[in-house]
Formats: sequence, structure tokens, C-alpha cells
Amino acid sequence: MLRIVVCVSGGGTNLQAIINGVRQGTITNTEIVGVISNNKNAYALERAKQAEIPAVCVSPRDYGDREQFNEAFLKTVEQMKPDLIVLAGFLVVIPSQLIRKYENRIINIHPSLIPSFCGTGYYGLKVHEGALVRGVKITGATVHFVDEGTDTGPIIMQKAVAVQEGDTPEVLQRRVMEEAEWIILPQSIDLIANGKVTVTDGKVHIS
Ligand code: GRF
Repeated sequence: MLRIVVCVSGGGTNLQAIINGVRQGTITNTEIVGVISNNKNAYALERAKQAEIPAVCVSPRDYGDREQFNEAFLKTVEQMKPDLIVLAGFLVVIPSQLIRKYENRIINIHPSLIPSFCGTGYYGLKVHEGALVRGVKITGATVHFVDEGTDTGPIIMQKAVAVQEGDTPEVLQRRVMEEAEWIILPQSIDLIANGKVTVTDGKVHIS
């Protein structure tokens, strides 16, 4: 049974997709053992509570400096004993100690087709604003392993979504969530839970 901890900052629609997937059996061999948010007002925490999943808030605001936050965040994660850490709309930089300890055991969902519209400054609506300003006809979402860069880790899955005439960033974000994020994040977790994902020379192989 793969023990997963999901880290969230906002509405938690990706968390909900994971909860639904486990409930409906489209995500197998997986248990969500905890949810961690940096934002005490994140609706994702309410979603966890409704699903009776242990949920905690660890906010940088509650610590004197980044070092103290990192220590508290690390301790909270370790206490949950995860096999896999899932970043689902999590807007906090992951401490490098955690990345090293959980090499290829932390995954992130990014709302574009990496390497487009990713890296520092590209998060949430800003990603979709960038896609619309550039005028791309196809965008989408990417699930990747987290390394010490920003959105630079080995890519696990991607799914394309058409940009439509008149799209606003909000409309496009919703379509990317519905048609891509909420599909490939659960699928990626199920593949990992069933030992179907390996990484060789920085490239992901799915069996
Ligand atoms: C989504 O756009 C997701 O792609 C990004 O964070 C946003 C919020 O996601 N990573 P959620 O509703 O909190 O899962």
C-alpha cells in the first residue's frame, strides 16, 4: 500500500481528484495518510476533513525564519511516514533536505506542458496568462518528479488541452484542471503505487 501525503495551498481540487480516485478504485494500492497546507484558510483542508484524512497547517508565518519553518515542515512530513509526497497546488519551496531524502518520491502537478510557461514566477493563473499572451493553440498539464530546480524534474505524464477563442485565464485554468490535471495526477499516482514508473538518466519509463 503506497502511503501518500498531499501538500496543498488553495482550493484543493487536485486533492479532491485524488480522494475521489482512491474512493472509486481508479487509484489502487494507495492510502492518503495526511494533508499538509501552508495556508490555514485553504479549502483543501476542509476537503481533507470531510474525507476524514489527518490534515495540518504548517505556515511560514508561524516561524521566525525559513530555517525554522523548513525544520517544522520536515518533521511534520516525516511523522506521517509517506512513501510518496504529492504537491497539488502547493506554493511553498520544498526544503532541499527533503528533496534529497525523497529523491524521485516527490511529484508535482504543473498547469502547462513543461518546458513551456514554467519555472520561477509561473504558478496558478500566471501560467495561463503567459499561454494566452504568447498565443499558443495547445497547452495542458504536466506531472513531474521534483528535483532541486523549479519544475525541472523528470516528466512522468503530460496531457494536452486546446486553447479556445476568447479564453480568459480563469476559463483556461478551469479547462486545464478538468481535462488534464484531475486526470493525469491520479493516473500518475496509480502507476507509481503499482511499481510501473522508473527513472533512468533523468528520463521516466512507464511499464
Ligand atoms: C491549479 O491551477 C494547479 O495546477 C496548480 O495550483 C492550482 C490550484 O490547484 N498547481 P488546487 O485546486 O488547489 O488543486
